[in-house]
Amino acid sequence: MNVLVIGNGGREHAIVQALASSPKVDKIYAMKGNAGIGEIAELVNVDYCDIKAVGDWVDAHKEIDYTVIAPDDPLALGLADELENRGHRVFGPRKNAAIIEASKAFSKELMKKYNIPTAKYETFSSYEEAKAYVEVCDIPVVLKADGLALGKGVLICKTREEALDGVKEMMLDKKFGSAGNKIVVEEFLEGPEVSALAFTDGKTIKPMITSCDHKRAKTGDEGLNTGGMGTFSPAPFYGEKTAQEVMEKIMIPTMNAMNAEGRTFKGVLYFGLMKTKDGMKVIEYNSRFGDPETQVILPMLKTDLMEIFEAVTDERLADLDIQWESGACVCVVLASGGYPEAYEKGKEITFGDLDDDVILCHAGTAMKEGKLVTSGGRVLGVCAKGSDVESARKKAYKNVEKIRFDGMYYRTDIGIKYRDIERE
Ligand code: AMP
Ligand code: GLY
Repeated sequence: MNVLVIGNGGREHAIVQALASSPKVDKIYAMKGNAGIGEIAELVNVDYCDIKAVGDWVDAHKEIDYTVIAPDDPLALGLADELENRGHRVFGPRKNAAIIEASKAFSKELMKKYNIPTAKYETFSSYEEAKAYVEVCDIPVVLKADGLALGKGVLICKTREEALDGVKEMMLDKKFGSAGNKIVVEEFLEGPEVSALAFTDGKTIKPMITSCDHKRAKTGDEGLNTGGMGTFSPAPFYGEKTAQEVMEKIMIPTMNAMNAEGRTFKGVLYFGLMKTKDGMKVIEYNSRFGDPETQVILPMLKTDLMEIFEAVTDERLADLDIQWESGACVCVVLASGGYPEAYEKGKEITFGDLDDDVILCHAGTAMKEGKLVTSGGRVLGVCAKGSDVESARKKAYKNVEKIRFDGMYYRTDIGIKYRDIERE
């Protein structure tokens, strides 16, 4: 089969690497891809948020048998619908299901209606009303822009002053653009966090191994929220008991809720969860693979990823046994100085002698005049496997130290979080 992968980050490089090892896959195309993806796949220079242009390109390239849509934006814009309506096979939810990520107000209402455990909340479209509420609500409080904001539209406000400033930034100053026209003001929850991703074809839902993200830019969970600065898998506090609780109270009810709403979800459902003293609660849903979660999940997958994708499309996931390696995987993201705010691009990336089994997931990289250069905020994910998180972590960092570019920064504590937590 010839497969087109939509997207250009570290997640897509991990997906392309997994597909490249599938005996079913002959050739991979990537739209638009990056320098690492370009070593495996043929790069296609079409703007994937222009869904009609993507549809026209796939129509014109009869050799494409299947398209994997990885990022949130094209899913929210309806790229899966566009391609399916033209008769193409696709991995990724339709627009009416991708809304579970694209609108926080939608997902909060869904959880309330179907009794899926989550933080208490109120939704506001008027600045005055949001301000009046935040003047008296419990503190700390969490503010969330309704729409997509590259994972950055969430403010955890520890003081009332911060909360009032946050409402103004989102709703009046439009810091996150139109994503902040509507905001969700949410109860602050505490507990360890885990990304629990699952494949679903709308009839069956099968969990992947768990992982933990590090959203803040700086070591020690300081600095601004980013798309994710590193991950490790698995989460030590998520054993059989928690997995069962999440399956019964969150995963199956969410799949059923989407069916009941006439929004059958087919693809990857990503549950951002918190283990609170009152049980597991949903912090967020995503309608896709996480980035950089995928970079630690797919290297542990023993089953052919292409087979899973096709089983989801054909609604026969129940028949497939999905196998995972034991052990652990760690991914450390190397970022451009300044990210998640303004940063410079075009810095040359150099490598020392890396271990053979280290997995590099390119994110913001490009080839320029024969040299590998930076072209985004998150530049590379350096991933390593081990018998446990600690050994994977040591190996990842040993290799991180051999990579250089001007302004490069990374967190030095990926894989340390939850080390002392009670294991399950
Ligand atoms: P989100 O984009 O919704 O995942 O939020 C980004 C991060 O903000 C999450 O990973 C949490 O660390 C934090 N967060 C979001 N909602 C809450 C909440 N209700 N209570 C505490 N922390 C939260
Ligand atoms: N790493 C968080 C996300 O993909 O949304």
